Amino acid sequence: IVQESFSYSNPSMSRRKLLNFLTGAAVAASAGSALYPAAKYFVPPKESDSSDGAILAKDKLGHVIPASQILSEPVGTRALIAGLAGEPTYLTVKANGILDDRGIVNNCTHLGCTFPWNGRDEQFQCPCHGSRYSPDGSVVRGPADRPLKLVRVRVEDNRIWIAPWTDIDPRTGARPWWV
Ligand code: FES
Repeated sequence: IVQESFSYSNPSMSRRKLLNFLTGAAVAASAGSALYPAAKYFVPPKESDSSDGAILAKDKLGHVIPASQILSEPVGTRALIAGLAGEPTYLTVKANGILDDRGIVNNCTHLGCTFPWNGRDEQFQCPCHGSRYSPDGSVVRGPADRPLKLVRVRVEDNRIWIAPWTDIDPRTGARPWWV
């Protein structure tokens, strides 16, 4: 039995093995780069971002929603998605193919009913006891006495991230009631 050893004690053998090794490495590297897009496709996307507590927006079946799906809707559309902790949340399609960076949680601040967007009146109108909210979620008519909860919305790589809103509430200029 001849033991081939990868050492410089046999220069010609070492050179050949080294060449084979390098060629193999080159093939592996190019195969790896060719497979990368497929691998990227099959690896499920990261669904949460610990830096700001964001999660990916999903539909009611729990599937991640591509931003393009919502952005293909007409300007002014209020699209409902499942947001933080599964809370139904309205996203607003703005002009120039962008989403409003404020999402509005569909949970009436009176007693927690969900409500539709009324495009004709440009209001969120709660069917339970008649509270009404302006497009930014401010109370127009009670019995609700607090604005609707906000979340932060951002789009990256065709995915929609929903993060908690912890800054000053721009509608009241005060600390948000939900923080
Ligand atoms: Fe919406 Fe009462 S729960 S008005």
